[in-house]
Amino acid sequence: PVKVKKIVCIGAGYVGGPTCAVVARKCPDITVTIVDLNQARIDAWNDEDFRLPIYEPGLVDVVKSCRGKNLFFSTDVDKGIQEADLIFVSVNTPTKKSGVGAGFAADLNYVELATRRIAAVATSNKIVVEKSTVPCRTAESMRTILEANAKPNCRFDILSNPEFLAEGTAITDLHNPDRVLIGSLQTPEGLEACQSLADIYAHWVPRERILTVGLWSSELSKLAANAMLAQRISSINALSAICEATGSNIDEVAHAVGHDSRIGPKFLKASVGFGGSCFQKDILNLVYLSESLHLPEVAAYWRQVVEMNEYQKARFSKRVVDMLFNTITGKRIAVLGFAFKADTGDTRESAAITLIRDFQKERANVSLYDPQVEESQIWQDLAEASPELPLETIQKQVKICSSSMEACKGAEAVVIATEWKEFNDIDWEGVYNSMNKPAFVFDGRLLVDAAKLTKIGFKVVTIGRGEL
Ligand code: NAI
Repeated sequence: PVKVKKIVCIGAGYVGGPTCAVVARKCPDITVTIVDLNQARIDAWNDEDFRLPIYEPGLVDVVKSCRGKNLFFSTDVDKGIQEADLIFVSVNTPTKKSGVGAGFAADLNYVELATRRIAAVATSNKIVVEKSTVPCRTAESMRTILEANAKPNCRFDILSNPEFLAEGTAITDLHNPDRVLIGSLQTPEGLEACQSLADIYAHWVPRERILTVGLWSSELSKLAANAMLAQRISSINALSAICEATGSNIDEVAHAVGHDSRIGPKFLKASVGFGGSCFQKDILNLVYLSESLHLPEVAAYWRQVVEMNEYQKARFSKRVVDMLFNTITGKRIAVLGFAFKADTGDTRESAAITLIRDFQKERANVSLYDPQVEESQIWQDLAEASPELPLETIQKQVKICSSSMEACKGAEAVVIATEWKEFNDIDWEGVYNSMNKPAFVFDGRLLVDAAKLTKIGFKVVTIGRGEL
């Protein structure tokens, strides 16, 4: 197999950046260049003071240890492609907004443009690795495009190598993955390319965790893994509704159920709903795939996972209104957290966006605090969520604060939307004293000690628990 000396990664986002930074860190003998068309993003990756474009615990240290040595960030996509032996394609694959499959299918435009660029500028053999999450058989389209446009004597071997990292724990996940999955054609050339990529991961991942399978299985496994993870959340959330109606406690139920070794204890936390750029998109992608394959029952089954998630968010907003005596018009609601989960600044599909939009519709005033998310990002997300409202109207209703304390001052209710650890260490007595009474806490993340807060005087409303 080819011994890879130079890698280029197309796409310097949440996946390409951390993944290839860790490859560089673990493989000092390989030069890694991460390229992107977005100049601002590349500038931030090259920032002198390491104010990187994404927040991930531990990422700065990895970048510090190899940037300028064997890790480079650049907007020169063509040069990166020409010099590399192996190319990771790690561009975005969002849900299509219009045209055939709108609202379900993955938009493969970015993957196709990157693939066409590779074909146009490559002058030597390349191993092309699909890192982005794509529908089953995308590698086939990539091959057709590459072969139809290749220069003579240029060979392309295509691999699928989906990424399983979770945002917020990306660096530990990458250092110690449950598995690395590589899919290839089962031809001698395909298997050899697979070996070249496996040798890179073998710098730090035990061989038995590097799984090699066929191309189509690899592509489908990524969609399957995300669908099953999201399904677990929707299952526990569906049960949380029953708990609220019956006086059972979802934490106790999850604990009891998770003790069954066939089920396992992880990922059974009820919440206001899952967010993030992947779960919903990948399930919708699977739904679309199932429908295209004339499997409507299969499509309906997976679609329900997304519908349950929407229901959970709507149910939570409604509970806030119900508990606040059926009206929140003119009342101040403090929302703590805007990121889709803790330890990330990513807000894509965050439940907080839906909640705030719902509160705005009820004409409440919202005070918001998040420790990581940039103000400009918040305005962009809220504007997109309420396209019918001018931004000035949104900015009259929503105030962005620089601490939990400031957000909660004078509020009728605190809504915990993201499980940031620091929300546990808030001076809750101080918060209580600064709020209007009765003072409510709505815990959308099963984060705070409800008994402690109740003792202070709060009325605490928790997902998956009946009223105390
Ligand atoms: P992202 O949007 O953060 O990054 C993608 C980057 O690709 C952008 O900076 C964009 O400017 C760049 N790009 C697009 N077309 C380009 C082109 N032709 N040439 C150069 N650069 C180009 O997206 P993210 O979150 O990194 O996701 C990438 C892929 O990885 C998606 O398919 C996603 O489903 C998948 N994935 C994401 C995970 C996550 O936690 N965010 C986890 C596992 C997989």
